[in-house]
Formats: sequence, structure tokens, C-alpha cells
Amino acid sequence: VIRGGDVAVVVPAAGLGTRLGTGTPKAMRELDGTWLLGHAVRRLGQAQSVGCIVVAAPSSLVDDVRRRLRTEVAAEIALVVVSGGRTRQESVRHGLGAVPVDYQIVLVHDAARALAPPDLVERVAAVVRAGRPAVIPVLPVVDTIKQVDETGQVVATVDRIALRAVQTPQGFQRQILEDAHRDETVATDDAGLVERLGIDVVCVAGDAAAFKITTQLDLALAQVLLRSLHAPPGA
Ligand code: C5P
Repeated sequence: VIRGGDVAVVVPAAGLGTRLGTGTPKAMRELDGTWLLGHAVRRLGQAQSVGCIVVAAPSSLVDDVRRRLRTEVAAEIALVVVSGGRTRQESVRHGLGAVPVDYQIVLVHDAARALAPPDLVERVAAVVRAGRPAVIPVLPVVDTIKQVDETGQVVATVDRIALRAVQTPQGFQRQILEDAHRDETVATDDAGLVERLGIDVVCVAGDAAAFKITTQLDLALAQVLLRSLHAPPGA
């Protein structure tokens, strides 16, 4: 039964976050009074289209995550927490297997992109709803990108005009995402698997706030952004 919106979101959140330093799994890291996964799920829940959120959590934390997330989203949003896998792709596959049959539009969103705004979720969902099989949010590449060999010698400078940095949430017609995940070969994002099926992937404008929190510097940036959101006008 679809409650609320017609979109289900799978949230891979089972990474260890080793690049942030050892200790707590990244999704559980404290960020401005809440935890990182809490921020991510709360923002997803603020998008009107979202009716169901499926989180793939570290296996030892499934019960804990389920309990703590319930207060982050409205009661009419179905919340499912499953155990993640050894890789991101495996975690998405576990999550996808737990999406209720009613949902034909499925988004995949990294917990690490915890500050992605609800607007971005709606932008991606709208294009899938309009009939596109696969939709990704992208930003222009600001750095010059060079291809190098193993020794660090530059091989070529890639024309950045034709390049895009890819974010999440990525949106799909459910059947296509399921077909894509039947492929066991590795891709760094879900759209990469869909491309291998020969299916068109279309871009929409991304959002700088949807950056991936990977390093300590990213965590500090996220903290600054959250504080500026709370600050009274003119402060
Ligand atoms: O490792 P990477 O930065 O690509 O992780 C992207 C997202 O995938 C993170 O939200 C992380 O928690 C998740 N992930 C996962 N299961 C894994 C590895 C990563 O759900 N085994």
C-alpha cells in the first residue's frame, strides 16, 4: 500500500567510512547534534514524493538504526532497515530487494550525501515519473582533469567541457534498476550498471549541497553549512 508519495528511496549506509578516520561507522557519525544518516533520511522524508525509505545499515546496527530513524520522518512514510553488504553495490541490492512491490519509481541515495535538499529529490523523481528510465544529478567539473599512467606521468588532458561530476539521488524505473543489479560486475554508481544494459541515462542539474561527506574536511564543511541554516537572519 502506497502511503504518501509514489517514490521509494534506497539508502546505502553500510560503509565504514575509513577515510574519515577509524571508529564509528560513517552513517552514525555525529553531525551538528544529529547523526549523519539521520540528516540524510530526514531530508529525504521532506520530499513530498517520497513514500518509502529503505536503509541498508551495517549489520550489527540494524535494530539500533531502525529505532533511531523512526523519529526522523513522518509516520506515513514507510521505513525499512536491512543489513548492508560488503560493497556499496551489494548494499543497494539488499535494499532494492526490500522495496515494497507497490513502488515503480526507485531512487538510490548515498547516506554520505547527507545534506542533499528535498528539491533535488523532487527534480530527479519528476523526470523518472515523466517516463525516463534513468536520471542522474550532475554538476560541471571545475578542476582540470588529467589522465595519468602508473608512474604519475601525464598521458592526456581531458576536455572538461564534456565532463560532469555525478551525485545522488539517482532515479530509475524500478524494473530497470532491478535488471541492472542482476549484473554482478562492478560499477561505481547505479547508473553505470544501467548504461551497460544499453539504456539511456539522462542528466538533471545537481546541487552543491549534495556533496559526498568523505573526509574530515567535508565533515567540517557540513557542520558550517548546518550552523548557517540555523543562524537567525542577519547573524
Ligand atoms: O564508499 P563510498 O564512498 O562509495 O560509499 C558511498 C555510500 O555507500 C555511503 O553512503 C556508504 O555508507 C555506502 N556503502 C554501503 N555498503 C558498503 C560500502 C558503502 O552501503 N559496503
